[in-house]
Order: sequence, then structure tokens, then C-alpha cells
Amino acid sequence: MNRNLLIGLLAIAVPVAIWVNIKYHTPVDIQQKATALASAAPEMPWQPPDSNTIPGTPAGEQIRYGRDLIAHTSRYLGPKGTVAHISNGMNCQNCHLAAGTKPWGNNYSAVASTYPKYRERSGSIESIEKRVNDCFERSLNGKALDSNSREMQAIVAYMHWLGTGVAKGKKPLGSGINSLKNLNRPADQEKGKMVFIEKCQLCHGANGGGMRDTVTGIGYIYPPLWGTESYNIGAGLFRLSRMAGYVKDNMPFGASYSNTQLTDEQAWDVAAFINSQPHPHKDLSKDWPKKNTKPIDYPFGPYADSFSVQQHKYGPYDPIAKAAKKK
Ligand code: HEC
Ligand code: HEC
Repeated sequence: MNRNLLIGLLAIAVPVAIWVNIKYHTPVDIQQKATALASAAPEMPWQPPDSNTIPGTPAGEQIRYGRDLIAHTSRYLGPKGTVAHISNGMNCQNCHLAAGTKPWGNNYSAVASTYPKYRERSGSIESIEKRVNDCFERSLNGKALDSNSREMQAIVAYMHWLGTGVAKGKKPLGSGINSLKNLNRPADQEKGKMVFIEKCQLCHGANGGGMRDTVTGIGYIYPPLWGTESYNIGAGLFRLSRMAGYVKDNMPFGASYSNTQLTDEQAWDVAAFINSQPHPHKDLSKDWPKKNTKPIDYPFGPYADSFSVQQHKYGPYDPIAKAAKKK
């Protein structure tokens, strides 16, 4: 094309394009388009607020400290912690991925909106502080943090900030851990061991003990899955459905709900293998005061039904669920 003609055309086209843009794409128009698109596309999982919106004020400092405590718990509160020694060397983030922001990575999107709430495990109304301490005492096999401590207040402030924009009582899509479809057979530890050797051992170690951070001497590069340094038998991951759901959407590290790397069967079987290995003990005699509220996969009796401990721990679960429905 002739160069002058091209310049001439552009000289007309550019202002026209700008004018059309201004005339037809008012903010309201754009908003309506966005809403129309959103309702046509499948619903997207929750996204955390942008960290750049954490203010540079003391309140913002507290939120950032809370995030740091979740990501690097061990530095502050592990066996060599700078603040206290009340936990086993794991980080909250080991299970609440990306500091509790990853879709189906056990994120905290529903914490501020749903607590305080009644929980059958304790038979009481739990505050955020109580729920955080449940994980300190179980998942981090440690001791409770004082509710008035700077650390607890920072963790709670961070969870409130994460819940910005989530309406009271709402559980956003992608919160917590997903539930897989039940298998119609018991989960198989032997098959699970094969999955472990092939897909997990490289990072988590042949003895499941993980890999310590030998450079800093604090905590782990790859956290332990069993043994004295791991979560105890009262932890959520000690229930097979929680472990299988967590692993399916998040492991091997790098996997996500939209890019899973295991079949459901592999996830259930490797969960069975991990949870058949030794874990630290905990007195659970006060848990689930009402027997009939125990989750199907809770691995300790007594139960309100006549299914064995073995079947409650490894499945198949559908017969248990069916029997409970008939009652
Ligand atoms: C070994 C894994 C693990 C570690 C480490 C861990 N948690 Fe958890 N946490 C869980 C599981 C599993 C659940 C229950 C998820 C479910 O049932 O869907 C949970 C639930 C929670 C909840 C409730 C979430 C909700 O939406 O109801 C909070 C709050 C929480 N954890 C805080 C913490 C904090 C704070 C730490 C660190 C001190 C921590 N967790 C460490 C596994 C872990
Ligand atoms: C490439 C290394 C890698 C591989 C392979 C891998 N993981 Fe992990 N895994 C990690 C890391 C890193 C974390 C902690 C994530 C964090 O802190 O951000 C983790 C955390 C976990 C946790 C929660 C914390 C704990 O220690 O209990 C479980 C459970 C887990 N992995 C299971 C598995 C299973 C099962 C497989 C195999 C299917 C697997 N992982 C494969 C790196 C890996």
C-alpha cells in the first residue's frame, strides 16, 4: 500500500476507533458485558484479594505478619522458633497452600464468613482462634497459642483480610478440600505404596520423613507425611477422604484442580498407604461427643452403626452412607 495513503487511513481510523470506544463502552456497558460473560462461563473459583491492597498501616503490618506466620510457622513457632516452641516444625502452608489462597488447596476463603460456628467434633461453638488452635494441636502436633498473643491476633487478622468481600455465611467455590467420588472397594494400601514410590518418594523421602532444610536448619523443604515429626491421629488429614481430596488437587507438588496428575483411585490408595503408617498419638476421648455425627471415614470407634473400624477407615463408604440414610 502507498505509504501516504496508509498514514492517511490511520489518521482517520485511530480517532474514529477512540471515539467508538468512548461512545459505546461506557463503564456501565462494560460492567453489563462482564456480568453477561460471567453468567455464560462456568463459575470461577474464589480468588484472594490482591496483596497490594494490604495497607501500609499498623493494621496492614499485622495482616502481613499473619501471612508470614502461616507460610513460615516453623521459623517463629517450631522446635527452633524465634517466638515460642509449640509445634512440630511443619508450616500451616504445607497443607493450606500458598498461605491459604489456593483453590481446593485447603484455602481459608470461608473462615471469616463461617466462624464462629458449631462443630460436632468438639460439640461446641468454635471461634477462629479455637479452630486455629485445633490445627496447632493436631496437624502441627503441638500446643495451643494464647488467644491474646500478638501471633494469634495476626493470624486472625490475616484470615479476616482474606475473607474480604465474602458475604457472612457464604462458602466460596474452591474453599477447603474437595470431596472425591467414593470407590466401590476399600482403598488399597499396597497399590498406594506403589503410587508413593513412583510419585511422592522423591520429595517426601522413602521413610516418609520429608527433607529437612539443612541450610537454615529450620523446618523442611519437603514436609513429613508420617513418623514422629508429622501430623497426629487427630488431624483432619488422618481422615482418608480429606487426604485423598487434598492429594488429588495438589500433589505431586505443582498439580492443581485444573491440572490433576493422579486418578481418583491413585489418590484414595496413596492416602490409605500414608495413613496406615505410624503417626503421633493424641487423646481423642473428648471428640465427637455424639457418636452418630462422626464422619463416615472417621477411623476410631465406637460408632452408631455396626460397620467395622477397618471399613470406616478404608471404605467402601457407600454401604455405610446408605445404612445411615435408612435410619
Ligand atoms: C497436616 C496438614 C495441616 C496443617 C499443617 C495445618 N492444617 Fe489447618 N486444616 C487441615 C485440614 C485437613 C483441615 C480441614 C479441611 C476440611 O475438612 O475440608 C484444616 C482446617 C483449618 C481451618 C478451618 C477452615 C475452614 O474453612 O473451616 C483453619 C482456620 C485452619 N485449618 C488453620 C490452620 C493453621 C492456622 C495452621 C497452622 C498453625 C494449620 N491450619 C495447619 C490441615 C492442616
Ligand atoms: C516435587 C516434590 C513433591 C512431590 C513429588 C510430592 N510432594 Fe507432597 N508436598 C511437597 C511440598 C513442597 C509440600 C508443602 C507445600 C508448601 O509448603 O507449600 C507438600 C505437602 C504435602 C502434604 C501436606 C503436608 C504433610 O506433610 O502432610 C501431603 C499430604 C503431601 N504433600 C502428599 C504427597 C503425595 C501423596 C505425593 C505423591 C502423590 C506427593 N505429596 C508428591 C512436595 C512434593
